[in-house]
Amino acid sequence: NARDMASLRTALLAVPDLKRLLAPYRKGLLAKLSSRIDSHDAVLDELRRGIVDDPPFTVREGGMIRKGYNVELDELHDIAENNNAWMQDFELRIKEETGIKNLKVGFNKVFGYYIEVSKGQVSQVPDSFIRKQTLVNGERYIVPELKTFENKILSAKEKIQQLEYYLFNEIRNCVRDELVTIQDTARAIGELDAIYSLAMAAFKGNYVCPRLSDKGEIIIKDGRHPVVEKLLERELFVPNDVQLNGQDERLIILTGPNMAGKSTYMRQVALLVLMTQMGSFLPCREAVITPVDRIFTRVGASDDLATGQSTFMVEMNEVANILKNATSRSLIILDEVGRGTSTYDGMSIARAVVEYINEKIKAKTLFATHYHELIELEDLFDGIKNYSIAVKEKGNDVVFLRRIVPGGTDRSYGIHVAKLAGLPKKVLDRADELLEEYAAEAPLSHKGTHHVEIPKQAEQDGAQGSLFGDTIRDTLMGLDVMTMTPLEAMNTLYQLAEEAKREGGKLS
Ligand SMILES: Nc1ncnc2c1ncn2[C@@H]1O[C@H](COP(=O)(O)OP(=O)(O)OP(=O)(O)O)[C@@H](O)[C@H]1O
Ligand SMILES: [Mg+2]
Repeated sequence: NARDMASLRTALLAVPDLKRLLAPYRKGLLAKLSSRIDSHDAVLDELRRGIVDDPPFTVREGGMIRKGYNVELDELHDIAENNNAWMQDFELRIKEETGIKNLKVGFNKVFGYYIEVSKGQVSQVPDSFIRKQTLVNGERYIVPELKTFENKILSAKEKIQQLEYYLFNEIRNCVRDELVTIQDTARAIGELDAIYSLAMAAFKGNYVCPRLSDKGEIIIKDGRHPVVEKLLERELFVPNDVQLNGQDERLIILTGPNMAGKSTYMRQVALLVLMTQMGSFLPCREAVITPVDRIFTRVGASDDLATGQSTFMVEMNEVANILKNATSRSLIILDEVGRGTSTYDGMSIARAVVEYINEKIKAKTLFATHYHELIELEDLFDGIKNYSIAVKEKGNDVVFLRRIVPGGTDRSYGIHVAKLAGLPKKVLDRADELLEEYAAEAPLSHKGTHHVEIPKQAEQDGAQGSLFGDTIRDTLMGLDVMTMTPLEAMNTLYQLAEEAKREGGKLS
């Protein structure tokens, strides 16, 4: 429709600037894209002259074609629009001829044009007037001249619609004749846009160029999640390394508390590999990436009840698909497989899947889980490595350090996270009680041997925001600055500073 034509016009108007910006590039990708971008001057000229600034959706009701584009159309508009002048003129003339002073010429949608005479003057109406409608206070008439005028106006409006539709089709055909090159221009601009976006992201986010390898390894130093790092408000994003290869570090079992950052980390690795293969720079300090044939993921919970798939069924279908299609050149991200069923069923499936991938498929894999029993697989199979995300216990609180460290962990701190989420205290207390009971029975034994020592470095590098942010934030939020004396304010500030130093943060 004409709106599409107006959009095309807006787009084509921007093309000359693009061409000018690309002109200095004489070879390479930008030059190639530039050569595919055509300014379509003739089409643009038609669109500028032909289509109004803000055309309607409908194409059969006129209002699309600009004044000055077509002489015949302008004449019709003249007729259709200048009817008021003619009516006033006609009214004056009839008043004079009949001597009826308060006679009026008007129009309504049902009866068309009419001459209205009030009751008192009806006797003066000449015989040539044809009565059309009787009102409470008067009569309405028509005369042949007014009828002719009416036909002319109505047919002018109709003709405008037809002529506009015809002209619009001409313009549309003119666009259609250039369709192939317009589309290629659009594609080239799309590609340019994508490249530009990647370049801007790389520039603003200090991305680096990854090195490509064919040795099967994926090594990322200080990698960041390109989206999460932008969205964090109260914390700084903590960069992390990854080291995968086709041999001794093929499959990582990732454990760590809820909320620690396992899912973020795994997606970050997958995203960075994907970005490499798109031709993008990466948010990291350094990377060596071996291209993968596919990235498989199984994350989150969803169901598809309408097609007969329960939550767990969807999960298993996805896992089946991965196990069928992944190769040794694939990257697999599995986030808590087996969670949607009973503990032993889930854990057994999780372990069998890990063993199968590691022994049969040999794909590079990240496997996040709360089945802490799986960390013993590191000792049983080549290629499996345990990593976990470090946390620090502080009194009753858990501080998330966001650091990936070698080794597994055997605690999830689920109840702590439930508390953060605001579960009622009664529920939390009862959960704590039950946890102690279950742990005492210990059917899923807690293995002390795999406890991780958090390296001092990780502790210090950890997210400063969460290290001491909570206490300081709570104190700040509890202050009523308006009622404090200057001395109180000084004292409080001093205490906050001391607190910050004591907790070993690096506020500066
Ligand atoms: N490296 C990081 N630096 C800073 N913040 C992070 C980092 N990684 C994750 N986060 C924050 O922690 C939140 C929780 O992370 P994530 O969902 O990855 O945890 P998880 O370990 O998968 O938890 P769960 O076991 O409950 O699934 C994220 O939404 C993000 O805000
Ligand atoms: Mg998760």
